[in-house]
Amino acid sequence: MNCHETAKRIPELRSLLERHNHLYYIKAAPEITDRDYDALYAELEALEAESPDLVTADSPTQRVGGAPLDGFTQVKHSVPMLSLSNTYSPDELLEFDARTRKLLEDRTFTYALEPKIDGVAVSLRYEAGRLITGSTRGDGRTGDDVTANLKTIKSIPLKLATSQPPDVLEVRGEVYIPEKAFAEMNEQRELNGEDPFANPRNAAAGSLKLLDPRMVAKRPLDAVFYAIGKVSEEPFQTHEELIHCLSGLGLKTVPKFWVCECIGETLEALNELKNSRHTFGFEIDGGVIKVNERHLYDALGSTAKSPRWAIAYKYEPERTETVITAITVQVGRTGALTPVAELEPVPLAGSTISRATLHNAEEIKRKDIRVGDRVLIEKAGEVIPAVVSVNVSARSGEEEPFVMPDTCPICGEQAVQKEGEVAYRCENLQCPAQIKRWIRHFASRGAMDVDGLGNVLIEQLVDSCGVNQPGDLYALKADAVAELDRMADKSAANFIDGLAASKTRDLWKLIFGLGIRHVGAKSAQTLEEHFAAIDALASADIETL
Ligand code: IVH
Repeated sequence: MNCHETAKRIPELRSLLERHNHLYYIKAAPEITDRDYDALYAELEALEAESPDLVTADSPTQRVGGAPLDGFTQVKHSVPMLSLSNTYSPDELLEFDARTRKLLEDRTFTYALEPKIDGVAVSLRYEAGRLITGSTRGDGRTGDDVTANLKTIKSIPLKLATSQPPDVLEVRGEVYIPEKAFAEMNEQRELNGEDPFANPRNAAAGSLKLLDPRMVAKRPLDAVFYAIGKVSEEPFQTHEELIHCLSGLGLKTVPKFWVCECIGETLEALNELKNSRHTFGFEIDGGVIKVNERHLYDALGSTAKSPRWAIAYKYEPERTETVITAITVQVGRTGALTPVAELEPVPLAGSTISRATLHNAEEIKRKDIRVGDRVLIEKAGEVIPAVVSVNVSARSGEEEPFVMPDTCPICGEQAVQKEGEVAYRCENLQCPAQIKRWIRHFASRGAMDVDGLGNVLIEQLVDSCGVNQPGDLYALKADAVAELDRMADKSAANFIDGLAASKTRDLWKLIFGLGIRHVGAKSAQTLEEHFAAIDALASADIETL
C-alpha cells in the first residue's frame, strides 16, 4: 500500500471499527464476528505502526495506551456537577410536586422518570465531536481527570456519531459494572487470592481510581448518560428529547424512560420501575424524577447542592425474614473457615436466597445468631446477602448457639487462629476442600484455562480418582473419566483435549496456576520474564529471586 492508499484506508478502518463497536457495545446487535472485528483492528494497528504520524487520539487503537500515571490532575467543571435531593417516601414526592407547581405558578409541565443507576458519576467533554476530557464528580466543582481510564470503556464513543458535531458538548452519566460481570470478576479475584469487592459500585469506583489504564481496561466497566453540562447548542426542548439526542450521537442512555402527565402517574411508573428493577442487568437504586420541559429549569433554579427540577426516589434495601436451618463451615483455597447460614429459601431482590454469609465467629457472637433463629436478611448491592439481625421475640428457646469447630469440617485437621487474624484456618495442604479450590484455580480462565473441567468433575476427581494436585490431572485417561457420574465419552474426550490444549499456555499462566500465596498474575509474569523456563525457576535459589 502506498502513502496515499494508507492515508485513505486508515480513516475507513476507523469508521468501520466505530460502527461495529457501537453495534456490539450499545445496540447489542453485532453484524460481524469477533474474528472479523479483530482482523480489521489488526489491519489498522499495522497501518498505524507503519505511519505513526497518522495516529490520532480518537483512533480505536488508542483506547488503552500510555504509561501508568503518577496521580490524577484536577479538572474544574465548567458547570458544577450537582447532586440530587432524595427521598424514600411517596409523601415527600407529593410535597416535591406541590413545591414545583407553586414555583411554576401553575404553568403546565410533565415529568420524566428514569432509573437511578447505582454507579459513579462522570462527565465527558467532547469538542468538535472528539472526546477531550473525562472526569469524576469530585466535590462537584473539581474532579479527577480520568480521561485515559474512561477511554478504555468500549461503549464510550471517542468520536460522536455525527458529521456536524457541536463545538462543545459535556455529557454526564454513570460508570457501572454489570451484575453478571461483577460476579465473575469477584469469583476470579477470590481465585487469585485477592479481596472481593463488596458491591458493583465500589468495584466501579475502585477501578476508575487505578493509575494504570491497562489495568482499568481489564475491568468490565460500562457507562450510561442522562444529563449535560456545558453545551454550545441545545437542539432539545425536553429531557426526553435530550436523551434521544445523546442516543443519536452514539452514547448509551438510560434503558427505560417514562413521560408522565402528573405526579400520580409518576408514582405508578415508579412502581413499574421498581417491579422491573432486576431485569436491567445492572444495579438500580431508585428512580429519578425530572421536570421534562427544560425551559422551566431557570424558573425552578437550584440549591447549592441540587437542582429544584429533579428529585431521586430511592428504594429501601430489600429485606425479608427467614429461618436459619443450620450453620455450616466452608473451607476456602487458603484454608480459611467461613461460617455460612443455611436458610429456609425465600425470594429476595430477584432471586431465591438459601444461604447468607456470617463472615466469622466473632460476628455471630456479636449478633447472637443461633441455629433455628428467625432472622432479617438484606441484599443491599452485595452479591451474597447478609444477616442484619435476629428476631429475638420469635425465639422458642430451642435455638442453638453456634460453636466454631476447632477442627476442619472436611479433613478433621486442627483449625488454627493466628495472632491478629479473625479467621480460623485449616493448615492441612492435603485437605480435599483446599485441593478442590486449588484445582479450580489452576483450571480457571486466568490461569491454565482447562476446558471441560467443571466443579462436579473436580469433586469426583479429588474424591475418587486420586487427584491430589494439578499435576495429577495430566495422568488421567479418557476412558476412566468417561466412567464417572454425569460424564460420557464426549465430555471426557473434551476434557482430555482441554488438558492437552492447556499445555500450550504461557509459562506465567502455569506459575500463576500453581496458586502460591502472594504470587498473582503480575508476579508470575515477572518470574517468566526473568527465568524463561520452569526448570530455571525451580532450581533458583532465594538470592536469584
Ligand atoms: S441527574 C443535576 N439522573 O445519582 C442532576 N442522576 O444521588 C444530575 N444518578 O449525582 C443528576 N442515575 O451520580 C441523574 N438517571 C439519573 C441518575 C443520576 C444515577 C446519580 C448521579 C447523581 C446521584 C444523586
